[in-house]
Amino acid sequence: MCGIVGYTGHRQAAPILLDSLSRLEYRGYDSAGLAVRNGTALAEVVKATGKLYHLADKTDQGRALTGNCGIGHTRWATHGDPSVVNAHPHVSGNCSGSGSGAVESDVVGVHNGIIENYTELKEKLLRHGYVFYSDTDTEVAVKLVDYYYKKYKIGPVDAITRCMVRIRGSYALALMFKDYPDEIFAARKDSPMIIGIQDQESYLASDVPAILKYTRQVYYIDNLQVARVSPGKVLFYDLNGDEVSMPLTEITWDAEAAEKGGFEHFMLKEIHEQPQAVRDTLNSLVKDGRIDLSETGLTDEIIQGIEQIDIVACGSAWHVGMAAQYVIEDLAGIPVRVELASEFRYRNIPMDRKTMVIVISQSGETADSLAALRVAKERGTMTLAIVNVIGSTIAREADHVLYTLAGPEIAVATTKAYSAQLAAADVLAIHLARIREKITQEREDEMLAELALLPDKMARILEEKERLQWFSSKMANTHDIFFIGRGLDYAISLEGSLKMKEISYIHSEAYAAGELKHGTISLIETGTLVIGVLTQKELYEKTVSNMMECKSRGAYLMGITTNGNFSVEDSVNFTVYIPKTDEHFMASLAVIPLQLLGYYTSVKGAFRSSWAAARSLLKTVHWTVFRARRTP
Ligand code: M6R
Repeated sequence: MCGIVGYTGHRQAAPILLDSLSRLEYRGYDSAGLAVRNGTALAEVVKATGKLYHLADKTDQGRALTGNCGIGHTRWATHGDPSVVNAHPHVSGNCSGSGSGAVESDVVGVHNGIIENYTELKEKLLRHGYVFYSDTDTEVAVKLVDYYYKKYKIGPVDAITRCMVRIRGSYALALMFKDYPDEIFAARKDSPMIIGIQDQESYLASDVPAILKYTRQVYYIDNLQVARVSPGKVLFYDLNGDEVSMPLTEITWDAEAAEKGGFEHFMLKEIHEQPQAVRDTLNSLVKDGRIDLSETGLTDEIIQGIEQIDIVACGSAWHVGMAAQYVIEDLAGIPVRVELASEFRYRNIPMDRKTMVIVISQSGETADSLAALRVAKERGTMTLAIVNVIGSTIAREADHVLYTLAGPEIAVATTKAYSAQLAAADVLAIHLARIREKITQEREDEMLAELALLPDKMARILEEKERLQWFSSKMANTHDIFFIGRGLDYAISLEGSLKMKEISYIHSEAYAAGELKHGTISLIETGTLVIGVLTQKELYEKTVSNMMECKSRGAYLMGITTNGNFSVEDSVNFTVYIPKTDEHFMASLAVIPLQLLGYYTSVKGAFRSSWAAARSLLKTVHWTVFRARRTP
């Protein structure tokens, strides 16, 4: 996720900006940049790819940039490669975008978020003579502000609000205007931004930890507001350009908690970021109500020629493949094989150009997945990568790339990247089905409408997390957990089981429910927790009867099902209800309680083991003291 910082006051800005950016490094980034004003002089822009120390080296730790007002940015590529030209800040003037010194420009800016209609806005600006040096949506935003600023000869606040009315998507913007030295203008919609004040200094940041060292007095700029920031002072404006007052808040968190946004662990934070990750991913693939995969280069002709799909991945990404298999086969009627990358690379599977190999990977660097991609290419197949990290090796080497927009994932246990991959796979399945005329336009519209509702439904499940927290504390002593389901519910079970064992260290297995009786059922004994995933109408009764077989051996049962659809409360010990959606998309909702279960069980387990460690320490101390007393 990108980071924004800003400073205006009496001290040299660049070292403060670099320091603030360093406090956002945990969010991940691929390039960084600064723009600093020295009074009425032109802004100096410096940018660098890679780690922040490259930017610090380029500017002699900021000392080489004189000036008391500036903005800074760490970029996580969404539009265009990670490169110096695409790195922020961006400028309204005509230049190479190389970011190496004073730039003749009326507006300079940095941006977080995604501008969905940037292509349309760019075309408008091109018609008005603007020239673009980067592939970013940010350069479009900066030039659009410049356009209104000059066309209507209005002030920065009015130019920005005009721009906000035209922009669709999410953004946090920080801008400097040549004619307004010592001032920074900020605006936001659905992307965070705060402004801190201390004496005669003002700070800007997209996240609290960036400025916590300097001030704890902050304003939270509201959605669709503009802020005019000068040393020690901020004015706020609504979309009409009318001044509004905002309350000053004192931050009481410590820095580490702030980095985690108040969550105890990154995993929990990322679980909560899933609605946004799914929303961003869907918005990048569905524009104006229509699926738009043009950026992947997958043409209708290519899609019509596909005879077989092989999905190749590792771990949770492989589980996404398992879920996608059911959805693609059911909707598009294309045979799908799902292969573990570590196996696929050593197999001699016959394939040709009519086979499409889809590699799914969050990092885009997983060795087995990359090797599998290379094997597929050597065998002459067409390859598509579903990847989260822009410019990663898998993304670069695949013939076609479909990016998920989950942002950087810090926790090792994947959650939001998994959900973003599922959403991308669902959109792909619908697109394949529509192009191959397996579904009508009306059906496509219905399914897209359902997909668009998923983020809110995910948020609703998260609101009820306390029940799962309670259940986890009750079950934290369990030694074995089985996750069972059929069809898509089996794919969900695989991910639930991995999340559980990966972080709680409790043994767990995922089984296709009907397979359990072929031997493994002998492991079910009194107290074994069996979790049945029951989201598919056709298969629900069969899975419930498998659960009953487990119950007769003493298992404790939990069921995940949809509200009002299936009644399992009489049969199982604990039921989790999730909202209804199209059955093809159930994995996106059912996985959330399972992630929470894994997380809370592991937290409870960690508490248990630290309590056990404390008890054994107390025992040791007791015996040492006791022996010492008895020793003459
Ligand atoms: O970066 P990738 O998606 O290629 O990683 C694949 C797996 O290592 C990954 O999904 C792993 O299973 C998860 N981190 C588990 O939570």
